[in-house]
Amino acid sequence: MNSRKKLIAGNWKMNKTSADGVALVNDIVAAVGKQADVDVVVCPPFTAVESVGRALEGSEVKLGAQNMHFEASGAFTGEVSAPMLRAIFATHVILGHSERRTLFGETDELVNKKVLAALKNQLKPIFCVGETLGERESGATLKVVQTQVERGLEGVNKDQAASIVVAYEPVWAIGTGKVATTEQAQEVHAYIRGLLTKLFGDAIAQKVRILYGGSMKPANAPELLAQKDIDGGLIGGASLEARSFVELVNAAVAAK
Ligand code: 13P
Repeated sequence: MNSRKKLIAGNWKMNKTSADGVALVNDIVAAVGKQADVDVVVCPPFTAVESVGRALEGSEVKLGAQNMHFEASGAFTGEVSAPMLRAIFATHVILGHSERRTLFGETDELVNKKVLAALKNQLKPIFCVGETLGERESGATLKVVQTQVERGLEGVNKDQAASIVVAYEPVWAIGTGKVATTEQAQEVHAYIRGLLTKLFGDAIAQKVRILYGGSMKPANAPELLAQKDIDGGLIGGASLEARSFVELVNAAVAAK
């Protein structure tokens, strides 16, 4: 038991039109929109962020995006910025997701620029780290995570650090149905909290939520959420249907 409020975030990835997204959050809001025991965030694709945000008005569910550019404006075709997201009332932004890193070439240095830009604009980063299967099998997991955390959070000051959310997503568990064992996940979460302690001190490290992501489902969530350093989940597939997402929120309420 700790004082951190659990957080369940849905990463819809490249799924849902604006209309489909609104329909989904209407169901989520009807089921868990008023509870405040657990923080709930939905992260639609850019084309649905504004309409979903409107559908969330008056509820406790918060709005996030899945990516952003680090500059505020300019000649960056195809990109959106932190002030643009703030202007449509987003509060969170996923940064450094493994799909951005592997499919779109995002480096630790680029992710770091985005983290700093998000914080400067009062957006809470959901900062993702995690190892590939090859890295786990060669025993490099903790080293890889250490590098991602240290480089990704370089230059973040203590005042900003508590508003960061870290998501540990083992790449081999994303969308594969293979979930990390509770022991594997807890080990890395505790290690990340240790890194945060070194960077920002114990008081802040104890406040930062560290989410697990990778094939998290209603069936495996209770055990994961019972771990000391697992403060919630970043949910892909199971966030695309109201029933499973609501069950995950309820699992987090039960685990609080
Ligand atoms: P899945 O829940 O579909 O494995 O995706 C996890 C994820 O990548 C969330 O960001």
